[in-house]
Amino acid sequence: MSEQKQMAGEDNIAYTLGPMQAGPICCDPQPLIQVEDLSLHYGAKAALDRVTLDIHRGCITALIGPSGCGKTSFLLSINRLTDLIPGCRITGRIRIDGRDIHDPLCDVQTLRRRIGMVFQKPIPFPLSIHRNIELPLHEHGITRRADTGPIIEQVLQDVGLWNEVHDRLHSPALRLSGGQQQRLCIARALALNPHILLMDEPCSALDPLASGIVEDLISRLSGRYTIVIVTHNLAQAGRIANYAAFFWTKGQAGQLVEFGRCRQIFESPSHELTAAYVNGVRG
Ligand SMILES: Nc1ncnc2c1ncn2[C@@H]1O[C@H](COP(=O)(O)OP(=O)(O)O)[C@@H](O)[C@H]1O
Ligand SMILES: [Mg+2]
Repeated sequence: MSEQKQMAGEDNIAYTLGPMQAGPICCDPQPLIQVEDLSLHYGAKAALDRVTLDIHRGCITALIGPSGCGKTSFLLSINRLTDLIPGCRITGRIRIDGRDIHDPLCDVQTLRRRIGMVFQKPIPFPLSIHRNIELPLHEHGITRRADTGPIIEQVLQDVGLWNEVHDRLHSPALRLSGGQQQRLCIARALALNPHILLMDEPCSALDPLASGIVEDLISRLSGRYTIVIVTHNLAQAGRIANYAAFFWTKGQAGQLVEFGRCRQIFESPSHELTAAYVNGVRG
C-alpha cells in the first residue's frame, strides 16, 4: 500500500510517510506476549504485583495509569532490560510466541533484537543520522554496504524522515529537531526488523505538532508490529490504541485493574477506579 500523507512538519518542512505495508486488521485477537502473575521487586520494594495480561499480535496496547504504578517496569521486563538493574527481581512468567523468555535456553540478544524500544526522551547517538542506524546493524552483523544502504533508506522512509534528511545523512543527528530525533530513534528501532515495539511515553517530550506526527506514525506502524505504548495522554490512547491496560498502585505495588478494548475501557469501564481515572477524577 503506498498511501502517502503530507502535513507541515518540524522546521516547516513538509513530511511524507513512506509506503507502508498494510497489516492484518486487529479484529481477531491472537496473544503474542502472555504475561502471567508477573511480580517485580527493586530490592525490598514491590513495583508490580501479580500482573496477568495478554498482548495481541499486530495491535497497539496502551498502558495507562498514574506515575509510579509500574508501567515502565512492565515494559522493561518484556525485553529483560530489568536484568540490567541491580537488585531487580521478577517472578511469574512471560511468554512471547509461546516461549518463556526466562528459560535458560532463551538467548537474550535474540530476544532484544526482536523487540525495539523507544524512550520518552529521544536519545540519538552523538553521531551522524546515517551512523545512528548503521551502528546497530553493524552490532548485529549486518555490515555489507549493499545490505545496510537499502535498510537505512527504507526505515527513514517508514518514519517519514527520508525527504527531510536524504541530502544530509552525514550531518549530526543531534542537530535535528526533537520530533525528528524521536522519528530517527523509531527508525533505528525498526532497522533490526523487530516484531514488537515498546514505547515509553514517546510523545511526551515533544511539542504538539511533533507529537501529532509521531502519533500518526505509530498508528501506521500497527499491524506490521505489535506495539505496547505507555502514554499519559488518554486522548492519544483513545485515538491510536486497540487495547488499553489500566494500572494502579494498590498497597505498595502496581496492579492491573482493568484490561480491554480501548473503547470499552474509555466508554464503559467495568471498574470504578478506571471510570474515575479516565474521567479525570483521580490520578
Ligand atoms: N531502579 C529502580 N530502583 C528502585 N525503585 C524503582 C526503580 N525504578 C522504578 N522504581 C520504583 O518502582 C515503582 C514503579 O516505577 P515505574 O515502573 O517507573 O512506574 P511508572 O512508569 O508507572 O511511573 C515506583 O515506585 C518507582 O519509584
Ligand atoms: Mg514510567
